[in-house]
Amino acid sequence: MTEWQKTGWRAKPRVQMPDYTDAAALAGVEARLTQYPPLVFAGEARRLKRALGAAARGEAFLLQGGDCAEAFDQFSADAIRDTFKVMLQMAMVLTYGAKVPVVKVGRMAGQFAKPRSAPTEVIDGVELPSYRGDIINELAFTPESRIPNPEKMLQAYTQAAATLNLLRAFSTGGYADVHQVHAWTLGFTESEKAAKYREMANHISDALDFMKAAGIDSDSAHTLKTVDFYTSHEGLLLEYEEALCRLDSTSGKWLAGSGHMLWIGDRTRQPDGAHVEFLRGVQNPIGLKCGPTMTSEDLKLLLATLNPSNEAGRLTLIARFGAGKVGDNLPRLIRTVEQEGANVLWVCDPMHGNTIKSATGYKTRPFDSVLREVREFFAIHKSEATIPGGVHFEMTGQDVTECTGGMRALSDENLSARYHTACDPRLNASQSLELAFLVAEELKSLRLERRQAEAG
Ligand code: PEP
Ligand code: CO
Repeated sequence: MTEWQKTGWRAKPRVQMPDYTDAAALAGVEARLTQYPPLVFAGEARRLKRALGAAARGEAFLLQGGDCAEAFDQFSADAIRDTFKVMLQMAMVLTYGAKVPVVKVGRMAGQFAKPRSAPTEVIDGVELPSYRGDIINELAFTPESRIPNPEKMLQAYTQAAATLNLLRAFSTGGYADVHQVHAWTLGFTESEKAAKYREMANHISDALDFMKAAGIDSDSAHTLKTVDFYTSHEGLLLEYEEALCRLDSTSGKWLAGSGHMLWIGDRTRQPDGAHVEFLRGVQNPIGLKCGPTMTSEDLKLLLATLNPSNEAGRLTLIARFGAGKVGDNLPRLIRTVEQEGANVLWVCDPMHGNTIKSATGYKTRPFDSVLREVREFFAIHKSEATIPGGVHFEMTGQDVTECTGGMRALSDENLSARYHTACDPRLNASQSLELAFLVAEELKSLRLERRQAEAG
């Protein structure tokens, strides 16, 4: 393979990227971003890679979630805090319920660019280019709004930097302290699962009181008071990614400085395409979305290209087939991975294969399908004797009505009440918590089976 350069992707076929019309403006923005500090550091990316390697071995579990698309007009400290809270609650449900360390990765601080199923959108007979995320153009349905504007990359960088700054403060400044387990609940999550969460939080508080009384709190105090929280996004807008790419002096390797983990989308994973070319050369842990059209041949090529040294934690395969389709697709891809002896982390994205148009016209996801895909994912790993190592989902801490179903049984008619997503429908806090309890149950039964197998 030819030696990698951060500009190498420019010579490869590209899809899902904007055609900027003002080359001088684009070059100006790229030059400025190149001078800006990276948002993340190589040591952090390497630490995440080690944690993901542990998840691939079944010694930890990846919880990756956040917005489908971050939006400039929904940017606020409260929104970041609430998403972070829900992630902490979900992580606690998994840690407590399944007794497994949870690797927490937000779809945050950089998740702006979106691939679209069609290049244009037609409303009332008017056809305009599709909205591609706030880092590229605007959602408003006017010809001017849809023109890709490179200046938006600077605003996205600023928002990502401020988001990450807040996340770092929340992670280490006392907010994520496990003693706060009761404080992470949100006012509106009044459901059976919220009650279950409170009950669990009581048990945890009790255990902490016990530890303190028994004098075993001081050594582990640091571990209990802070969390590692990482950021991730789809590595889609390669001009932005290239401009934030930095050479890490410690390792002599390149780092994508825009986020800890970057993934390649299901629409941009062509083995000889621009996105694979860019991401193969950075040392970050990377994800690869695998939908129903992923062939074994392509997967083999991608395993070899993206992780040539078969490094643990480097590659996460994010399965997103849709409920009812996991059985047709996951076993064949698991077998390909096994045949190749490839070291990967298997993760389930139960969102992107389950998007439908509701009777009321909204894009939605039935929560039952989301849960069903998770169950199918676990069942197949069980029958293949491989490791289900994480979940990847779209959620928010805001009380939205975007996915139907769940404990509070949202119907098609309810969707319009608080439908705020700029792109795909997200789980709200109650639905996210419900999902976490389901995953904890699955992991618990897996653990018991393993224990029985070891004993017998
Ligand atoms: C996404 O994660 O928002 C996305 C577009 O996913 P996929 O590439 O799997 O469709
Ligand atoms: Co999405």
